[in-house]
Amino acid sequence: MELISFVMLVMCVLLGLPIVWLLYMSRSPKEMEGIPGSLGWPIVGESFSFISDFSSPSGIFNFMNTRQQRFGKVFKSFVLGRFTVFMTGREASKILLTGKDGLVSLNLFYTGQQVLGPTSLLQTSGEAHKRLRRLIAEPLSVDGLKKYFHFINTQAKETLNQWSGRKVLALEEASTFTLKVIGHMIMSLEPTGEEQEKFRSNFKIISSSFASLPFKIPGTAFHRGIQARDRMYAMLDSTISRRRSGEDFQQDFLESLIMKHTKGAADKEDSENKLTDKQLKDNILTLLVAGHDTTTAALTWLMKFLEENPTVLEQLREEHMQIIANRKDGTDLTWSEVNNMPYTAKVISETLRRATILPWFSRKASQDFELDGFRVKKGWSLNLDVVSIHHDPEVFPDPYKFDPSRFDALLKPFSFLGFGSGPRMCPGMNLAKIEICVFIHHLVIRYKWKPLEKDDSVQPTLVRMPKNKYPIMVEPL
Ligand code: HEM
Repeated sequence: MELISFVMLVMCVLLGLPIVWLLYMSRSPKEMEGIPGSLGWPIVGESFSFISDFSSPSGIFNFMNTRQQRFGKVFKSFVLGRFTVFMTGREASKILLTGKDGLVSLNLFYTGQQVLGPTSLLQTSGEAHKRLRRLIAEPLSVDGLKKYFHFINTQAKETLNQWSGRKVLALEEASTFTLKVIGHMIMSLEPTGEEQEKFRSNFKIISSSFASLPFKIPGTAFHRGIQARDRMYAMLDSTISRRRSGEDFQQDFLESLIMKHTKGAADKEDSENKLTDKQLKDNILTLLVAGHDTTTAALTWLMKFLEENPTVLEQLREEHMQIIANRKDGTDLTWSEVNNMPYTAKVISETLRRATILPWFSRKASQDFELDGFRVKKGWSLNLDVVSIHHDPEVFPDPYKFDPSRFDALLKPFSFLGFGSGPRMCPGMNLAKIEICVFIHHLVIRYKWKPLEKDDSVQPTLVRMPKNKYPIMVEPL
């Protein structure tokens, strides 16, 4: 905190005027005066219109669009307690996402920083970030994922076996499936039983604490999130110590990180590659958090878009029926079939474009730099508006149409950011694609489905999901 802010804080508290302090803190930094935009009301800024647009069907697009028309592609605002510069366009994404020479770092909310811990991949930058990425790259590569295929396939079939002739909440079902998959991959959790239940309930509390108010007071969602995180860490501690004592050997993600961590396990590897227990736990939790809601949301949106676009569903079903027809031996889906579903891959990309599950990417300037003719100062929050990039009519004509054929040809760089780009591009994208391909295969060859209500509202959480959890009636084909 700057000295002047500290003095103001002390004076305000002493004078019993915390409100004056809040007013003081929500004043615009002087250097921001050159950036166009409105900061809204004192203290709350433009948070209310941001939140209300955020949970509308078109998401923050409304908020962005009205301001982009008034102020241009770069504008400032004060939302959710932060002075923020919003930007859009391929040029801005190139600069912010490639983040050359340590220009920017990831900008997590305070709640996320506290829950995930300081050694999380999301809180590291530079060399430390590169090192962690190297460690998780191999188990998340297509080859590294092959050993989990059987489990993913079995879970998808078992989930869908329950659907015939029933009303289901698609989002809840997708969530159970993706959590079983990631729990198994990461720490060989059995798909049912007490451990799975504990894991599931703690994870849900952690997940909902991210979008909570940052008050660590007993009874608040944030406080419950921290407690659930501690229980999850206790679970991990006992698993790690069992593994270390040789009681339990599993071929999972945790094991591959422990092997890298244990002294003497890899003599040739330099000590740089060893992770502490804290790093292990923070990063296991990070993968869970980053990988679960996103994949759940993608699966749910995909089902919704398919139902709303029958010709796309027909063509997709055709691809999957053809896979079955081409099978020479065996009756079940194989690893090589999953890796050869060209139309399904385009449907997934189009889903990520239309839904834009992560509507903005948040960064913090690590140094002063120039962008679109504006001087950005070290420490500023910078938000890249991905929704506008994904709905730019020059790149995606008729942008609201769900049309997977847009991905027939190669797109211009930085125009599609479903999994991000640059050094922070999603390391879990192969896993997400495999989970979705397997699930969709079994879904479309067996069932048709209809939504039980017409509601396009979106949950006001960081990851965009249908608010009503997409209730559907499922019938066999
Ligand atoms: C359809 C599902 C998914 C989508 C749409 C998605 C999307 C993204 C995007 C857009 C980013 C970049 C964000 C930014 O630049 O600010 C990202 C980063 C990340 N994703 Fe995913 N993701 C998905 C699944 C997964 C899975 C399954 C995992 C892990 C098992 C995962 C782990 C991560 C991690 C750890 C990061 C941060 C990387 C870093 O900061 O270096 N994601 N994801």
